[in-house]
Parts: sequence; C-alpha cells; structure tokens
Amino acid sequence: MRQVALTSETDWAGWRAATRALVLAGVEPGDVGWVVGGPAEPLPEATGGFNVPRALVALAGVAIQAREPERFGLLYSLVWRAHGGEPVLDLPDDPDLNLARRLALSVRADAHRMRTHLRFMPAGEGLLGWYAPAHYVLEANAQLIVRRFPSRPLMIVTPDASAHWDGTSLRFGGGLARADDDETLRAWWEMHADVILADAREGTAVPEAEDLDESPRPPDRPALGPVVFPVMADPGLVAARREAAGCERCDLCDAATQTVFGEGPADALVLFVGEQPGDQEDVIGRPFVGPAGQLLDQALEEAGIDRRAIYITNAVKHFKFTLRGKRRIHVAPSPEEIAACGIWLDTERVRIRPKVLVLMGGSAARGVLGRPVAVTRERGQAMYLPDGQLVFVTVHPSYLLRVPEGAAQEREYQAFVRDLAAVRTLLTA
Ligand code: URA
Repeated sequence: MRQVALTSETDWAGWRAATRALVLAGVEPGDVGWVVGGPAEPLPEATGGFNVPRALVALAGVAIQAREPERFGLLYSLVWRAHGGEPVLDLPDDPDLNLARRLALSVRADAHRMRTHLRFMPAGEGLLGWYAPAHYVLEANAQLIVRRFPSRPLMIVTPDASAHWDGTSLRFGGGLARADDDETLRAWWEMHADVILADAREGTAVPEAEDLDESPRPPDRPALGPVVFPVMADPGLVAARREAAGCERCDLCDAATQTVFGEGPADALVLFVGEQPGDQEDVIGRPFVGPAGQLLDQALEEAGIDRRAIYITNAVKHFKFTLRGKRRIHVAPSPEEIAACGIWLDTERVRIRPKVLVLMGGSAARGVLGRPVAVTRERGQAMYLPDGQLVFVTVHPSYLLRVPEGAAQEREYQAFVRDLAAVRTLLTA
C-alpha cells in the first residue's frame, strides 16, 4: 500500500502530483492510501503521457474541497479509470462520477453561501470576519473575496483555517472554532495575530469554484444521482411526474435539459412554489438545489421548518435561459409559459392539499392566483383561494441574492425568515 501524505485538506498541488505519478506508475486505486499531514513517502518518477480529460481535472479541483474523507481516493479512482481509456464522464449511472459531481455542486453552493453571508468588522487597519463553511472552501474563496477589497488588509477566520490578505499576498494560518460575538473574535485576533501571521503559509492555488464552472454543459450531460427527498408514493403524483417528463406544452422544453418536477412528501402540510428551475436544478433534475435553494434551506432552518417535511416545486418546470458566452443566464418565464405549465402545479396542489401554499415571488404568485402580483405589497398576508386553500405570498430567495451585500441584504434576509416563521405559525394554528 502506498501512503500519500498531503500537506493540508486542500493540497491540490500535492494531490495532482501524487495522482499523476502513481497513475503513470500503474498503482491501482485500492493500493493507495491518503492522509493529511505526516511524513511523505517519495513518489515514483512520472514518465509517459498522461491522458485525462480537462473536464475531469476541473471537476476534481472543486470536489477536492468537499468535507468528505474519501474524496482523495474517489477522485484518484476516476482519474485512474479515465487514464485507462474508460469514458468516465459519459457514464450517467456511474456512482463514483455522480458522487464527485454532487460533491462539486455542494462545494460551489457552499462557496457562494460564504461569499453571501460573510460579514466584516473593522480591526486595526483592516477588516476581520468569521464564518463556518460546510466544506474546505476558504482557500479558493478567499481569492475571490479579497478582490472586493483589494487595498485593505483582510482577515477571514474559519474553524479550519484563516486567510490573510495584506494588499499584496494571500496567506493561510490557523483557525478559530467559534466566534460567539464580535468582541470575542476581535480579542482572539488581537491575542493571536502575531503567531498566526508568523506561521502563515502561501496558498496552494486551489481552483476557484467560479472559474471551474463547466457551463454550458453538453445537452446530454447526465443527471446526478439519487434524489435526497423522495416524493412519497402517491399514484396521482407519480403519474403526473412521469407525464410531465415528456411535456411539450410550450417551447421551453426545447433548450432545457429536463423537466424538474416538485419533490417532497405527498402528505406535506406546506407546499412551497418557486418560479422555475435554475441552471443547477436543470442539470440535476431537482428543485432548489442551487444557490437560491441553499439560501432557502438556511432560512427554513432558522425559521424552524424542516425541508424534508415540505413539498417544493416551481410554477414552471423547465429552465428558461439565454446564452451569454458560455453561461446560461436565467430569463423570467412569460405569463403564457406560466399558464401552460399550470396543469402540473394544479395537480401537485390538488394531490397534496397542503394546509398552507407558500408562493415565493411574482411568477409563483401569478401561477396560482392567475393575476400579476406586487409581491412587496401582498407579502406576509394570509389569503384564501376560492376553494378555501390558505395562501401566503413572500419574496423569492433569488431576490435576496440580488440585493447588494451589506445591511440591506441582511435586513431582507431577516424579513424572509420572519415570513417563514409566520408560515410555521399558520401550520400549527
Ligand atoms: N429558483 C426557483 O424558482 N426554483 C428553483 O428550483 C431554483 C431557483
């Protein structure tokens, strides 16, 4: 067994060098062990051509930032197979590939969430902020964050590590497990800054999550693995989902990857409706798994609502977008497209019969109420449909992502959490 010792959880350069050398030396995945820290064994000399698709290397660069202990071996095994000539990126049911893709998506969403929620306070000449990311995204993310404040010293502290920008170079040192409040953080920083800065190391050029975005993906890019929140067996819903998969009621099916139907328990007390799947939802085939979904998850948690207990869907089941260079940019659905898709939303609503129907944003409100809705005027009020259905309008989480960062964004986010808490109250009333 070969033991590879990486220098840190995000030692991308070390992983790449070891992977290249060991694959070329013919060391099978089962014969390689990966650890972080500890003495390094010398690597065999790498000779010969190394033939692995760039997209796989890009995927590995993001997935390696996941807080998943088996990721180094998983990614090695994919590279090993690709080098051996297997078309691993074209195997839609491959569990290893699907796991790597899920890890990469989760990393990207976490990196985005960190950039959205990280708050700074003044500290000495610079700014100091604390955040606990779910994955090891500090290193790659710090490269993006410092661009916002190029001329101010910046310290970003996380439980795993801290990043230090002095205006010219970015270095990484020890972390702080918890910052209960600003004063604790500031005091900790004042006490330890000298030691941390003296020991700080250069970053290892982890790929930036944004730069590695593979979009536009080829149209036949396979859907990712198993659904986490399955639709509970309800024959009517299962049949509707199957039928909607081939829906051609409007032109949006032409460019979208797939129909993204709702998901959640069929006996859910609350049904959340968004606008339409986004770029990531379109590829994965599940609603609210991209940045807006991550923000919604967080707000639900703060409001005391368990996402696994809700049914969540969209007014329109196909992604509408326009291409800008390589990127697929969201375009709002037209009233006609919303109306054409209404049959699926009606079916979901009738089968689930929720106690409360939550409409997030103008398209969802139009889809159910059948009229234009000024969300800011009508949000937060309980209303009833002619059939007695209780309806609650609030903003769409994507709106919160568009509000300029800072106090305004925090205020809007808190107002959204308050709306969700009001929904929870309606559920228990
Ligand atoms: N926005 C939506 O409205 N729905 C999704 O599923 C994702 C983003």
